[in-house]
This record gives sequence, C-alpha cells and structure tokens, in this order.
Amino acid sequence: MRLLFATSEIYPVVKTGGLADVSAGLSNALQQLGVEVRLLLPAYAVALERLQQVEELARFDVAGCGRQRSARLLQARHAELDSPLWLIDIPGLFDRPGNPYQAADGSDWWDNGERFGLFCLAAAELAQGRVGLSWQPDLVQANDWQTGLLPALLTRESRRPRTLFTIHNLSYGGHFPPSLFTGLGLPPHWWQIEGVEFYGQFSFLKAGIQFADQVTTVSPSYAAEICLPPQGYGFDGLLARRRAEGALHGILNGIDTRVWNPANDPALARNYSLTADLAAGKAANQQAVLRQLGAAHPARPAVPLLAFIGRLVEQKGIDLLLEVLPSLLQQTAARVVLLGSGMAHYEAALRTLAAQQPERVLLHIGYDEVLAHRVEAAADLFLMPSRFEPCGLNQLYSLAYGTPPLVRATGGLRDTVTDADATSLAAGTATGFVFHEATPTALLQTVLRALRLWQQPALWRQLQEAGMGQDFSWQRSARSYLQLYRQGEADVRTGQ
Ligand code: ADP
Ligand code: GLC
Repeated sequence: MRLLFATSEIYPVVKTGGLADVSAGLSNALQQLGVEVRLLLPAYAVALERLQQVEELARFDVAGCGRQRSARLLQARHAELDSPLWLIDIPGLFDRPGNPYQAADGSDWWDNGERFGLFCLAAAELAQGRVGLSWQPDLVQANDWQTGLLPALLTRESRRPRTLFTIHNLSYGGHFPPSLFTGLGLPPHWWQIEGVEFYGQFSFLKAGIQFADQVTTVSPSYAAEICLPPQGYGFDGLLARRRAEGALHGILNGIDTRVWNPANDPALARNYSLTADLAAGKAANQQAVLRQLGAAHPARPAVPLLAFIGRLVEQKGIDLLLEVLPSLLQQTAARVVLLGSGMAHYEAALRTLAAQQPERVLLHIGYDEVLAHRVEAAADLFLMPSRFEPCGLNQLYSLAYGTPPLVRATGGLRDTVTDADATSLAAGTATGFVFHEATPTALLQTVLRALRLWQQPALWRQLQEAGMGQDFSWQRSARSYLQLYRQGEADVRTGQ
C-alpha cells in the first residue's frame, strides 16, 4: 500500500506542536508495518536549511490566485524519518524565515490561505500522478486545516486515491474570505452549507471533514466530544453526521519511543528506567534542570518539583494555573518549572511571578526541545490542566518518564491517565491525577491531593511504575490506521 501523508509539520524538521511528533512517529510506525509512505511538506526555508542532500524530482505548474506558478517537488532523507520526505516548493510562498504559520511578530502570515491552498492544489496534482513521477498513492492522509482542502480536491477526479482526514485540533479552522474560494478556482457548487462554506467564510477544515472518505481524530473521547457543542466549534452537526455514517473514528496517538525514552535519551543528565536508577536518575536530572534554570539552591531536598510545558494559550489551561500558583506556593513548599511560549499576556504574568519568587518559580519562555526532555525527566508531577485536549502528548511523555501527570478529564487526557483513587491505588492501576471542573479550586485541590500522595514514597513509586509500564508506542495505533486504510481498499471510486 502506498500512502501520501500530507502535513504542515514534521519532527525534527519543523515543529510547533504535537502534529510534528505525530507525523514522524506515525509514519515511521506505518513504514515499519510495510506501508510505502511518502511524507509531503511545504518547502519552508527553515526545513530546507535543516535538510542535507535535497534533490529535485519534478517541476510542474500550479495555477491559482490569479497566476500560474512553477512548483518544484523536492526529495530529502532524514536519519530520524524512515520514509522519504517530499517537499513542495512554490516560489514566494514558503521561502521565508520562521514559523510555518506566523511572522516573527506572532501574527499569522497574511497569505496563509493562498499558501496552503496552493500547496493542496499542488499535492492533488502529485496524488493524481500528473507531475511526471511513476509513483502514485493508493491513499492520501491529510492533517488539520492546512491540508484539509486536499481530500476535497481529489473528489473532482474520476479515479483517485482514497482519502483520510485527521483532525488534531478543531479550534484552528483555517477560515478565509470567499475571494480565496474564487481565486483557487473551486467548483461553485461547493459554496454551500453541504460544501466548504462556513458562516460566510471558506473553511479548509470543513473541506476535509466534509469530503474525506474517512475522518479520524486523535483520541476516542475527543471523537465523541466534537460531535457536540462547544467542543465541535460549529462543526458538531457535520461531525455527528459523519460519525453516524461510520466515517469518524478516534485513534489515540502514540509516542515515538526512539525519541522519548529515559533509558537512552541523550538530552538527560542521567539516564534511568523502571528497573535501573529511577529515583537516582530523576534526582540527578532535577538538580541539573534547576541549575540550568538558575536556582541558587538546586539541591534543596524533599521539595516536590511540578512542571508545565506547552503552548501558552487558553486551551492548555494556563490561565487556571496562573490563578492557582500564588496559593499553591503559599500553602506548600513545592517548586514549579514552566516552559512555554504563546500569548503575550500569559508570558508577562509568568515573568512577573518568576521575578517575585525566583527560587520557586523557574521559567523559560521560548521553545526548547532539549529542555522539554530534561524537564520531563526532572519533574515529580506534570501539570496539564487543559480546557480541551484532542490527545495531548506531554502526559504520555510524562508517564514514560516516571512523572505522574495531573490532568483535566477531557479528550485524550481522559483516555490515557487513571486517577489515583482508593480503588485504582489498591488495584495498582493508578497512573496520575484527574480533575473534572475547569476551575482554579478543582485544580488546586487536586494538586494538593497529589502532593499528599507524594509524601508516601511507596505509593508514589507504585504510581510511577504503573505509568512507566504502559505501552503507548505507535505500533498499536498504527495498526488501527492500517485497518482503516484497508477499509474499502477494493472500492473503485468514481468522482462526483
Ligand atoms: P499541542 O500539539 O496542542 O501543542 P501536544 O501535547 O500534543 O500539544 O504536543 C506538544 C508538543 O510540543 C510536545 O512534544 C511538547 O513537548 C512540545 N512543546 C510545546 N511547547 C514547547 C516548548 N515551549 N518547548 C519545547 N517543547 C514544547
Ligand atoms: C494538537 C492537539 C494535541 C494533539 C496534537 C497531535 O495540536 O492540541 O492534543 O496531541 O495535535 O495530534
């Protein structure tokens, strides 16, 4: 089976969040299961800088937004990716510095609709074998709004690959003015509620949900939550219909154990595992991280270290955490390490807090992959109070690193963490802490409950062991995707 996997991010070439990790981990696992994968990414300047030996495979024209452009299909290999990486270069669209979606000042690129619209048009040409290559996919998987138009474009063809659209986050819709719809030359009858129109805007996300043969999202709970408001962000009716048709599925993300494994993670001060050096390894990493972040007394004993890593946006519940931190610092001796970047007002509030309590609030504003690994290893408790979370990867990394996660019961967090209550503790199945209400009080009470358990080393160790013993590797999830890919394999599709 040949799979074209279109994505706007892939670790370690270009990453802003979990989609990059999933693109790498899932494609590697699929390739190992015998799927012939080609990864397809825009040829961002930052990606080309990080890749060596980039060769040109083809040149072809893409027309849209008032002009015809000459696109190039490039190929590169990366040691951490088991599949060839294909990149589409369209002059003027991706050859700029920085983030795939935003300029240096944090504002979205003014022409994101045109950029990803033309990327999808070019990807469709490639998928249909019209760029002069002998390789043609049996299946196309698109991810999030950036590639949402691709499954829709393919329905215009009389013979085409099957399509699967994966939702990683419904709150980013890729909504653009109707002029872009016209500019891309799309069929006028798509401009309706049963098409890609969404409250007067052109929605790339809706295109994917509406037109893909199969739609998936990244956890079973999120698949159910998005069929209702408010998590459905206005797509709930359409999603519920696709679910009723048997075309919406929740497949839990995995983790790439080659990248996230405390036993051989090169970022750590000391490696450890369930059977070797768990306590000593974590203690060494804790000291190293505290020292790196400027604590004057890194060796202060018997004080728990709490951690948060993530985008500083409302989704992640950073506002709840900010409300709780002053009381938490007052009521306990805990220290907190925070790594993130995002909305300016959250960054500023965290900076203020860290300046007030420099020994207890250790902060790194920015994106630092190596530090993220170190913090996972160093912390005692990982905080993930998300308001919603399609899957979440950090709680899975925490489980693997012996750092019990404290999460809100939503989406993939609900599906992956078992609350330490009397029953689960007695059964040895508890892996972390779960709270329900998205309120500062519920969060604070749960952190205090967790810290009480932390004072009982035998029970805490049991929690760590149960988490570290779980298998969240990609193999299982990749098999579920494979099953879906195979559904309808024999179908001969006809265009609309
Ligand atoms: P999301 O994709 O919504 O941001 P996930 O939990 O799925 O959330 O994935 C986030 C990924 O991004 C994780 O690999 C996490 O370690 C990483 N990450 C987020 N913020 C930072 C940061 N400031 N520095 C380093 N890594 C980060
Ligand atoms: C999104 C979600 C996150 C998920 C990731 C990868 O960014 O916010 O929950 O883990 O995609 O699927």
